[in-house]
Amino acid sequence: MPVHVLDHPLASHILTHLRDRTTKPATFRTLAYQLSLLLAIESTGDIETELKAIETPLESVQSRVLAHQPLVVVPILRAGLGMVQPFTDIFPDVSVGYIGLERDHETAQARSYYCKLPPLRGRHVFVVDPMLATGGSAVKALTVVKQQAPADVRLVCIVSAPEGVAEVEQHHPGTVIHTAALDRQLNDRKYILPGLGDFGDRLYGT
Ligand code: PRP
Ligand code: URA
Repeated sequence: MPVHVLDHPLASHILTHLRDRTTKPATFRTLAYQLSLLLAIESTGDIETELKAIETPLESVQSRVLAHQPLVVVPILRAGLGMVQPFTDIFPDVSVGYIGLERDHETAQARSYYCKLPPLRGRHVFVVDPMLATGGSAVKALTVVKQQAPADVRLVCIVSAPEGVAEVEQHHPGTVIHTAALDRQLNDRKYILPGLGDFGDRLYGT
């Protein structure tokens, strides 16, 4: 499966501070925004452009603009909300859909509690969720999104575990994953090691 791990010194720097247990929610939110901005740029690096005729102050030129293909970003609630703003900041025509999933603390199985999606047929969809652990949440979200026959679906994460990558590959082969880090493994409570703990709790101070 195509897994793209973000390779940039700034990404490593931000990720280190996100991992640090002493980082407080206000700083954590800022860092999550910054890293998600790098991921938004990286994960959209091959979207289509077209030529547009413009006049510079000096001459006429054909120059590239984004082709008309409004993107859709779909955060998996709650923690995915921390990755939305970079997409809406840099892609003004982006649509936003929401999928609410929550892991059971005992079983680590994801339970669905909300879903509101714009029309997805033929569109380029970016499912965003900072943590890809067992992969259960991502697989459920991808299944819901793919039912609407989008042109393309990508998964954008901050920290991924090999177990989660394998689970996505098993259920949705060929899905492109962009992640800032591919960590070592899950612990017996299905948390990512070394990871950064519970992203949602750290983002929202809960
Ligand atoms: C976290 C995270 C993912 C999920 C990953 O959410 O944001 O959605 O766990 O785990 P998985 O790959 O094993 O499914 P959580 O269920 O804790 O909910 P929250 O975002 O509301 O905190
Ligand atoms: N969800 C998180 O927020 N962190 C993990 O390590 C695993 C699931």
